[in-house]
Amino acid sequence: MLRRRSLLKLLRERRSIRVFKRSRMPDEVARLIVEAGVRAPSYSYLQEYSMIMVGEDLRKEIAKLCENQDELIMNAAAIFLICADLNRPARMLSLLGHPNVLRTNKHPVESIFAVFDAGLVTAFMIIAAEIMGYGSAILDYPIVYPSEFARLFQLPPGVTPLVLLCVGERGEAPPLRPRLPIDLVFFKNSYREAGADDLKKYLRKMEEAMKKEDYVRKYVGLDMEYLDYLKLKTTLDDELKKLYDAVEKFLKENLMKF
Ligand SMILES: Cc1cc2nc3c(=O)[nH]c(=O)nc-3n(C[C@H](O)[C@H](O)[C@H](O)COP(=O)(O)O)c2cc1C
Repeated sequence: MLRRRSLLKLLRERRSIRVFKRSRMPDEVARLIVEAGVRAPSYSYLQEYSMIMVGEDLRKEIAKLCENQDELIMNAAAIFLICADLNRPARMLSLLGHPNVLRTNKHPVESIFAVFDAGLVTAFMIIAAEIMGYGSAILDYPIVYPSEFARLFQLPPGVTPLVLLCVGERGEAPPLRPRLPIDLVFFKNSYREAGADDLKKYLRKMEEAMKKEDYVRKYVGLDMEYLDYLKLKTTLDDELKKLYDAVEKFLKENLMKF
């Protein structure tokens, strides 16, 4: 029987789902998710984002770009490429015939809000999917390999691929993942610096939770502690520097104009 759940409860219990039972989402349902997504607030009505649904024929190509995520990519009911889009807003503003900022190299606010808008639309889509009983996971490969995704999806200049939103039928029931204590992220009147002890405590909590879930082995396929994995992921070695140089170049040409 369908269990009635309040939206608040649904939000409080949400977690990323990375194992899906293989299924395909009917176009009408995908459309409902997108229609809910676009009700998110957006900067100046500009809706500086685009969502592209990944067709069946592109799944294998996508899986090649997303290392070790074949199962997730092939089993997800629907996959949406979420982009920050300054192309359409620039064209729209051009129709007004004024010297609009998006045709210049100085639009820091519009650039940041394109990412912000895309984040909001993604959040709304995640919630809509949850309401309809689906789980979801975000994958970051598009922003890591922007040129490859831009080529594959024929993105015009000004459109930046950010993430893949993968939605599907839950094939796992992971625990709620840890969060920083609310008083480390939410203040009244003024910012309060977190104490090193509080931060260390949270790192320990994260390590314990990830160990309990066997997170790194299960999702990354590596046999190491989570914090070691985090260090590995965030060390600016030569390989990461080369990758990030390419990301930076793409962003400077297509998104970040300041
Ligand atoms: C911008 C962004 C990028 C993310 N990229 C990935 C990713 O590449 N792979 C992945 O497994 N999860 C990714 N996630 C999901 C986070 O890892 C996840 O939300 C976080 O671990 C908290 O877990 P929870 O969503 O289950 O609460 C991403 C989330 C965001 C917001």
